[in-house]
Amino acid sequence: MSNKRDIIIVDNASELSARGAAIFFKRAKEVVDHKGRFSVALSGGSTPRGMHKLLAEEPYLSRMPWGAIELFWVDERCVPVDDPASNYGVAKEDFVNRIPIPPANVHPMPGEVPPEEGAGEYQRQLEEFFQLGKGASPVFDIIFLGMGTDGHTASLFPGANSVGGSGTWVEAVKGGIPDVYRLTLTYEVLNRAKEICFLVAGKEKALTVRAIFEDREANLPAQKIQLANGKLTWLLDKEAASFMSKEMIHGSS
Ligand code: 6PG
Repeated sequence: MSNKRDIIIVDNASELSARGAAIFFKRAKEVVDHKGRFSVALSGGSTPRGMHKLLAEEPYLSRMPWGAIELFWVDERCVPVDDPASNYGVAKEDFVNRIPIPPANVHPMPGEVPPEEGAGEYQRQLEEFFQLGKGASPVFDIIFLGMGTDGHTASLFPGANSVGGSGTWVEAVKGGIPDVYRLTLTYEVLNRAKEICFLVAGKEKALTVRAIFEDREANLPAQKIQLANGKLTWLLDKEAASFMSKEMIHGSS
């Protein structure tokens, strides 16, 4: 595992969205030019919404190679798609319905079936999409993650132990706000990505951000994101980074 990471600090949440969209576009272009297909996993929550909306606007709307992009989700709340807590439901409104992406390239987590069933179903979808041999794990081209004030990421919450064991890529868990059943990708999948970009904004996350970088004992889920072989970027706004020490900011990569 590598502890290497880049920390990018921008002025505010709208710059965070702009930078996130630029990272998405650059990576999509590179990967599509190179191998013809780009797999990305997206998070829910409020922070990525600005970035998602920008993806459905120019210059990205007409320049993104949408036909070669495969959209997956990092986690989902087990609620109906039209519930405001549905990550896919919100993303549909924010951008998926407004981009020229083939419907077959959109892979929402099945949040409307019983949680264990949904986890098994998404695991099968990943197996089929990534055409995996025995012992292999999916490798996403990029995954966008968020972080809660308690240090959770995806729906991997502090103190929750994975029950599935090796080879489990999707799990059903309960917790968070709203406190409902959820489906989440596991560390095993997240840590295999070629690139991960955290998007974190707001003063209420500043203490947690400091703990992530400066308190090795904190044992927070977001600290467990350490890529086996990929690029890890923390994209923070000034408020979220406001309690970080200068040494940590400058000595990050
Ligand atoms: C979700 C998530 C979750 C989220 C964090 C941060 O669906 O809730 O994927 O991990 O990224 O809770 O959420 P905010 O961006 O709303 O602070």
